[in-house]
Amino acid sequence: MYVLLLGSGGREHALAWQLRQAPSVTRLFAAPGNPGIAEEAELVALDVTDHAAVIAFCRAEGIGLVVIGPEAPLVDGLSDSLRAAGVPVFGPSQAAAQLEGSKGFTKDLCARAGIPTAGYVRTASLAEARAALARFAAPYVLKADGLAAGKGVVIAASLAEAEAALAEMFGGAFGAAGAEVVIEEFMEGEEVSFFALTDGERVVPFGSAQDHKRVGEGDVGPNTGGMGAYSPAPVLTPELEARVMAEIIAPTVRTLREDGTPYSGVLFAGLMLTPEGPKLIEYNARFGDPECQVLMMRLESDLAQIMLACAQGELAGVAPALRDETALTVVMAAKGYPGAPEKGGAIDLGSAGAQGAKIFHAGTARKDGALVANGGRVLAVTATGASVTEAQAKAYAAVDAIDFPTGFCRRDIGWREVARERG
Ligand code: AMP
Ligand code: GLY
Repeated sequence: MYVLLLGSGGREHALAWQLRQAPSVTRLFAAPGNPGIAEEAELVALDVTDHAAVIAFCRAEGIGLVVIGPEAPLVDGLSDSLRAAGVPVFGPSQAAAQLEGSKGFTKDLCARAGIPTAGYVRTASLAEARAALARFAAPYVLKADGLAAGKGVVIAASLAEAEAALAEMFGGAFGAAGAEVVIEEFMEGEEVSFFALTDGERVVPFGSAQDHKRVGEGDVGPNTGGMGAYSPAPVLTPELEARVMAEIIAPTVRTLREDGTPYSGVLFAGLMLTPEGPKLIEYNARFGDPECQVLMMRLESDLAQIMLACAQGELAGVAPALRDETALTVVMAAKGYPGAPEKGGAIDLGSAGAQGAKIFHAGTARKDGALVANGGRVLAVTATGASVTEAQAKAYAAVDAIDFPTGFCRRDIGWREVARERG
């Protein structure tokens, strides 16, 4: 089978790496890709917002499966265009991708289906939102409804801070994404990510992970796309995972199917493990980045076959196998991230790959043949081990073999679990 992978981040490099190894894949294309993906796939220049061009390429090359990595093309309806043209695609329809594209949509769906999540109010104007604050207590959780590149959530410690944040949101800080704002009850607990694959009807679990969103060690400072992650996350015990499948994932898939907008692809649930049990924080309609890197490190099955089964409604009997070992990834970012990252800094990977680690490229480029930084998150240095402690040690050994003077990373990825392993 010929496969086309869309995207250019560390997540897509990890997907490309697995697709390359999949026995069912005979040729792998990627657009736009990056220098790491170029080692696994043939890069093609395709504008993913030009649906007709993507379809024409698929027809010309006989593509048997398109894999959509990031959320923007999903919310833009690329999978609908491809399906209408008869091209199998891994990734949900525009209607189903609203699970990520609209926080209000997801909250309403949870309310209808009885899915445990924080209480909420949807508001469409500053006046409405300010009035609604009275129904909540500090800390206030405020969310721009639409896609805001991971920056649309504000946790405000006081009423004054909440009012200021609402004024910014309705004042256009997040563009159209902030035309509506969801105000939520604050949930206490430990966060965990859970992944499930579905063809619209059947659902199979696809592992857990924990990521580190804050830029600073000890989980302080501004939010980022993710500075590191590990999988599995033991805090999501088999009992809790069974509850998540039964109380959150299954009713979501069932409700979307009953609504006539079945979801196919990967469902990425951000969960809060509260004293009352797991509750949904949010859904993403794609793999996490860098969570995908750790899941792909553990995958034993043919990724393309699993994705095709999701695309074609044939997930019955498919059971993806993830190795029991722990995978841990450390993101090396360019100084300045998550603000304005320094571009063009030289990177020498040295012998990092020889340490048994896998270096996934995120924001890299080639300049006169040499590798340079070309984004906020630049590399995802990933290793496996029998424990989080062991995987962490191997990942940092590889990090230390990399020469990237304009880069930085957190040195404490996996700290919660390392502390628990110490006992
Ligand atoms: P999101 O972009 O929706 O993943 O939210 C970003 C982060 O805000 C989450 O990872 C949580 O740490 C936090 N968060 C979001 N919603 C809530 C909530 N209702 N209660 C507590 N924390 C939340
Ligand atoms: N690492 C979080 C995300 O991909 O949304």
